[in-house]
Amino acid sequence: MRDQIVAGNWKMNKDFDPGLLLVEEIQKMMSEESPGATKVVVASPFIHLARISEMASQSDALYVAAQNCHPESAGAYTGEISAPMLKSIGVEYVIIGHSERREYFKESHELLARKVKAVLDQDLIPIFCCGEPLAVRESEQQGVFVNQQLSDSLFHLNPESVRQLVIAYEPIWAIGTGKTASSAQAQEMHASIRQHLAEQYGKEIANEVPILYGGSCKPTNAEEVFSGPDVDGGLIGGASLNASDFMAIVRSL
Ligand code: 13P
Repeated sequence: MRDQIVAGNWKMNKDFDPGLLLVEEIQKMMSEESPGATKVVVASPFIHLARISEMASQSDALYVAAQNCHPESAGAYTGEISAPMLKSIGVEYVIIGHSERREYFKESHELLARKVKAVLDQDLIPIFCCGEPLAVRESEQQGVFVNQQLSDSLFHLNPESVRQLVIAYEPIWAIGTGKTASSAQAQEMHASIRQHLAEQYGKEIANEVPILYGGSCKPTNAEEVFSGPDVDGGLIGGASLNASDFMAIVRSL
């Protein structure tokens, strides 16, 4: 059985105290209504991670993610944070290859491949993001586009490493736009991603990889978007900044 995961990507939001307050609210709601088997992940900015990690050590279902890391483990890289550093404070997941990092920080497939390896070398779990821009969707090339992203940045991994991955499908046209993929569009792409993994690594391994959907997921649409058999949860942006909305999404999985 694959992990069911709802992860909140705060992006560059929440100063220190409001961030901790948000986690306190999430934990309070989680203790009142057990989220069942769903893993709840909080991907905060770096400044909160150590404290959230301490808070999460008290609860079974809450996990901590970073939003990025550097591919090298240490050295003269001013302003960067390494995977061993994240490991040292109890972080468990690292988002790699978010479309905002690909676009604004020009992160290449090759760089992402190195980052994924760096994360796995620390026994941390990469949440690897993929997804097509609107023009690619309009020309119906989204399957080819996403498969290429996976091949370019993941297919250097051995089968044992692939078992550890989480993949997040986030169509760029749905991020922060209020426009979600329909449940049929999400399911079709998730099945295609799983098929692509199966062709490279076999069906058994492909069936173990959780594939999350991200892009304008809200309490009002989450149940519908999560309904496909290959949709194993969500990567939530804006709606993860409010505990009630975030937990409503967790509940709908
Ligand atoms: P929104 O939920 O704000 O559209 O963001 C999705 C996302 O980019 C999560 O990583």
